[in-house]
Amino acid sequence: MSECCVNRSAGQWDSLLSAETLGLVLSSDQRIARSVGELPQLLEATGARRVLVVCDRDALLASGRQSAFQAALKAVAAEFFESFTPNPRSEDAANAARMAAAHQADCIVAFGGGSCLDVAKIAALAGSRPDLAETLARGERLDDADPLPLIAIPTTSGTGSEATHFAAIYVEGRKVSVAHPQLRPQAIVLDVALHQAMPGNLAAVTGLDALAQAMESLWAVSSNERSIQYAQAAGKLIAKHLEPSVLQGTVEHRLGMMIGSHLAGQAINISRTTAAHALSYQFTQLFGLSHGHAVALTLGHVATANAGVCEATCCDHRGPDHVRSHVEDAAALLSVKPEGLPGYLRDLLGRLGLASTLREAGVGSAALSELASQVDPVRLGNNPRRLTNADLESLLVNACG
Ligand SMILES: NC(=O)c1ccc[n+]([C@@H]2O[C@H](COP(=O)([O-])OP(=O)(O)OC[C@H]3O[C@@H](n4cnc5c(N)ncnc54)[C@H](O)[C@@H]3O)[C@@H](O)[C@H]2O)c1
Repeated sequence: MSECCVNRSAGQWDSLLSAETLGLVLSSDQRIARSVGELPQLLEATGARRVLVVCDRDALLASGRQSAFQAALKAVAAEFFESFTPNPRSEDAANAARMAAAHQADCIVAFGGGSCLDVAKIAALAGSRPDLAETLARGERLDDADPLPLIAIPTTSGTGSEATHFAAIYVEGRKVSVAHPQLRPQAIVLDVALHQAMPGNLAAVTGLDALAQAMESLWAVSSNERSIQYAQAAGKLIAKHLEPSVLQGTVEHRLGMMIGSHLAGQAINISRTTAAHALSYQFTQLFGLSHGHAVALTLGHVATANAGVCEATCCDHRGPDHVRSHVEDAAALLSVKPEGLPGYLRDLLGRLGLASTLREAGVGSAALSELASQVDPVRLGNNPRRLTNADLESLLVNACG
């Protein structure tokens, strides 16, 4: 892609986003650049001289931006780490951390989707202590970390991981989510040209993750005024742009999703996610479903369960009325009532070319009881309605279709 196209896509922010949305994005404490061509300024501001690039090679090749990316790194000594896969393991992060130490890196740049960003986050957190990377990925000895600055360049829209202080990594076959303030990148590049490179299926599944994050953030126990502001702005953009970003893929819609998913990341950075995310990890681990698809398959059913909250089942100190009204706000993003969400989302998944029930996605009813009993209680604790095993099982039966 020529530099002229890059500059044009950066300028599209001003013409395609409202002043209010733009203001919200730019109010971040993170330094934000609008194209890979601006990476040298971010590196300079970080004082970077020797950089480990944790790179999703497939994303870079798909973008056609190899030479622009190499040019943006020419003022620093850059080493590339590319040995990881989707659903990355703690060993991948440890290998990246060891390479960073061997290269005497003073900064890490992550170029790729959420999996790449999570590998880079743990490697950056370990910093001069690569021996600790696997321990840190388990969420242990976090005080002993010696972090390096991290610049994130997301290529999916998406996880919003560029805005969060979490990393999700498989440790001994189990997904662990680590939280640490230094996991939040100092600087980010939101370059719509990279997001335009996503094939439709990837735009669909990552966009559904962003939709779920915006909606779950609205009803999360840990939400506050700021996260609700982010989640509302994110949800409006995602509701408008998700389907056309997949079916048409124009720059306007890909930009809307890139910004929407980023704002959803800012929202969950404060509020964290709830039951739909908590349930999803096993669908990925045991049945190979992509992350966003796995979350979307129960999202509507979680919403209807949460709409049925009462005093006795409410975990949010703001009470059941607060919860119900925020579940309604979440459903209203898609112009439906909470009870209409399961049907709406089932139809949406179908239009996006995805299996629209757990059964269609290969999760048979025989597995549901076991799945309901294995949900991580910590993640479930942020859901505003207390859900028993029996509640979870009946929710999964409904999601099975
Ligand atoms: N840390 C956080 O805050 C956070 C939040 C949500 C999700 N996550 C994690 O992120 C992971 C999911 O990330 P994801 O959905 O971005 O997918 P991903 O990073 O796993 O990538 C999926 C596939 O898409 C390819 N790809 C990426 N960008 C591309 C592009 N522009 N063009 C073509 N191909 C491209 C990758 O090579 C890969 O094969 C999960 O492990 C999830 O748990 C982390």
